[in-house]
Amino acid sequence: MRTIDWVNGAVEIIDQTALPGELRVLRLHTVGELIAAIQSLAVRGAPALGVAGAFGVALAARVHHDDPVALEVAVRKIETARPTAVNLARGALRAARLLPLGPDAVLIEACVIRDEEIVASQAMAAIGADLVTELCGPRPRLLTHCNTGGLAAVTIGTALGVVGELHRRGGLGSVIASETRPLLQGARLTSWELNQWGVEHRVAVDSAGPFLMARGEIDAVILGADRICANGDVINKIGTYSHALGARRAGIPFLVVAPESTVDLDTPGGDQVEIEDRGAAEVTAYGDAVNPAFDITPHDLVTAIVTDRRVIRLDHGEKP
Ligand code: MRU
Repeated sequence: MRTIDWVNGAVEIIDQTALPGELRVLRLHTVGELIAAIQSLAVRGAPALGVAGAFGVALAARVHHDDPVALEVAVRKIETARPTAVNLARGALRAARLLPLGPDAVLIEACVIRDEEIVASQAMAAIGADLVTELCGPRPRLLTHCNTGGLAAVTIGTALGVVGELHRRGGLGSVIASETRPLLQGARLTSWELNQWGVEHRVAVDSAGPFLMARGEIDAVILGADRICANGDVINKIGTYSHALGARRAGIPFLVVAPESTVDLDTPGGDQVEIEDRGAAEVTAYGDAVNPAFDITPHDLVTAIVTDRRVIRLDHGEKP
């Protein structure tokens, strides 16, 4: 089943706020509904956000095809619905370039973006599984963070797609899903997907990751990205940087798997990226809190970036 798709004139998504309790499908008919779904994380994960952005413009094109001003406002709202993953604005703006040709052309472009993400996931799974085997040998014990499976893309996913591919090849040792506070994408979503795939796994609190690495229980960290900067800095879910520090200290590979649609050569480094602040309410209902949703992992902590077309060995001095 696809996480996001265009079905009979509306955008259909798996509602990720309802998982793992309920597999609920939402039909989004308006730009407002789509933006609400993006902001509530009903649809989330960088590649899925790129597709959501493009389908959002397809919805806008149908409603506002004779009102260029309303159309421009709608596109702007979609591309800025969340700030950090480059895919959202990129998907929206790529679809918007087709607006002069009419709503059907926009929808076709959005479907191309969806299909490209499916193909990219397949490629990353194969390239990433080869690299993990090369770096870690047979039956690696992996730690992953946040959710990077089919739920974060259209199908398969990025880093979790690699985990799934290693499992299919019979070459996976074990996998730990770091729970990913505060919204528990690891404990709720990654765990749910691994159960669907029949992959045995354990969940750990985020702060246990570096300690498990220090104790020699992890062979590599493998996770995704919301944006990869020109210098190789990796923007990903809060907690990623701690795992990178733990991996460096333990001397194990720190692998980032993301499609080329997440590589942003227009942004020189992580300090130029807006880190989404999701407010205190997600963390605590009884006091003040600071809630950055993403962090920046400096490029010198990253062993390699796996995309759908290449392996960029940052540890060998290569750049995106
Ligand atoms: O806030 P989220 O759940 O959208 O954050 C998602 C992540 O940080 C993922 O790790 C990233 O998008 C890679 S998804 C393949």
